Amino acid sequence: VSADELRKLIPGIWISDPSFMTTALASSAITYLDGEGGVLRYRGYPIEQLAERSSYLEVAYLLVHGELPDAAQLQTWTDEIRMHTYLHDNFRKRFLDGFHYDAHPMGMLVSGMAALSTFYPEAKDVTDPAVRRRQIIRMIAKVPTLAAACHRYSVGMPFVYPDNSLSFTENFLSMMWKVAEPRYEPDPVLARALDVLFILHADHEQNCGTLAMRTVGSAHADPYIAASAAAAALSGPLHGGANEQVLRMLASIGHVDNVPAFIADVKAGKGKLMGFGHRVYKNYDPRAKIVKQTADAVFEVTGRNPLLDIALKLEEVALSDEYFISRKLYPNVDFYSGLIYQAMGFPTEMFTVLFAIPRVAGWVTHWQELLEQDAKIYRPRQLYVGRESRDYVPLEQRS
Ligand code: ACO
Repeated sequence: VSADELRKLIPGIWISDPSFMTTALASSAITYLDGEGGVLRYRGYPIEQLAERSSYLEVAYLLVHGELPDAAQLQTWTDEIRMHTYLHDNFRKRFLDGFHYDAHPMGMLVSGMAALSTFYPEAKDVTDPAVRRRQIIRMIAKVPTLAAACHRYSVGMPFVYPDNSLSFTENFLSMMWKVAEPRYEPDPVLARALDVLFILHADHEQNCGTLAMRTVGSAHADPYIAASAAAAALSGPLHGGANEQVLRMLASIGHVDNVPAFIADVKAGKGKLMGFGHRVYKNYDPRAKIVKQTADAVFEVTGRNPLLDIALKLEEVALSDEYFISRKLYPNVDFYSGLIYQAMGFPTEMFTVLFAIPRVAGWVTHWQELLEQDAKIYRPRQLYVGRESRDYVPLEQRS
């Protein structure tokens, strides 16, 4: 029964559901998630099949359009994205240059996404499907350029323009790492691994960031501003920021011998095992399984990340410990992804940015769905627990 129907049956009823533990926020045809069974599907396709056989751009098409593209549609889509990879030069020279030299790239990304709104005033017309589609393409195309620019700025390296002869993921790697002309030659194994990670992160139904996108979008704010709010939510350590925290945690544990003491501290309430637990998954996160397999392929190229042994030991100890078993705490997508990013050379500060880049496809798809459903503005009620009405007391009469 929907809340609306319930209110008609019992006038005056309100449902209290702090943190939306049991609320279905919307009807959505995008992503299916069965947390007990450890199942994730985009538009009906199992995540395992997409990770093995698809590419990020094809998955982005699938999310946005609802169906897999045929060859001609995929080519047109790829060309459309390539057309929009550049950032306005003022954006880079004037806007990004204003940040402090050691600004966190996630903070830069959040502000940069909102600032993009000022370059595309037509985006305010959220009711026109053609305008919406243009912004969707722009956002998927430009966020990797923005993300790489944030990194290059924060390490004092010159900005690298997009190379549209490369694939989506290779182009991002080029903008991150290119140091010499004529072009950056990406390692195919690493480029594919990153593409798989991008597929796994593309959407995850009504998570905290997507809720922010939908909430701001429901007020008909333009999609750049709404996505900036979504990215802000993602930056939190309980959400996308967890991948950065996992690496910091592994580094602070330092050695496999210290794992039992660390787990004892977690059980005593002295902190969390970052990268473990999930609001919806009460079973192994299916994305984490694929990330773990992807790690093996990456380490073949880069050499083994020494922190991997600590992560494996943590998983082994946690999964046989009653504290974690009884609470159904399993590794989530963030537990192993940071190890891959680190092995590939990404600084820890970029980890959440690497989550945000592919999640843009999910955000814009939810935004589009919300507008197509003509959803009302999100406006929950509250249980007021404050003071009763009382009279104002002039300052001189207050003790
Ligand atoms: N380490 C230790 N204990 C944990 C952890 C953890 N990672 N996660 C949950 N618990 C415990 C809680 O302390 C609580 O114990 P209690 O019943 O004795 O009080 C119990 O498990 C239930 O946890 P909640 O916090 O109520 O679960 P909730 O669904 O609200 O939180 C969350 C989910 C935020 C993901 C949580 O598991 C967590 O903080 N994990 C670590 C951060 C993390 O990895 N976040 C990434 C999530 S995936 C993503 O956003 C992409």
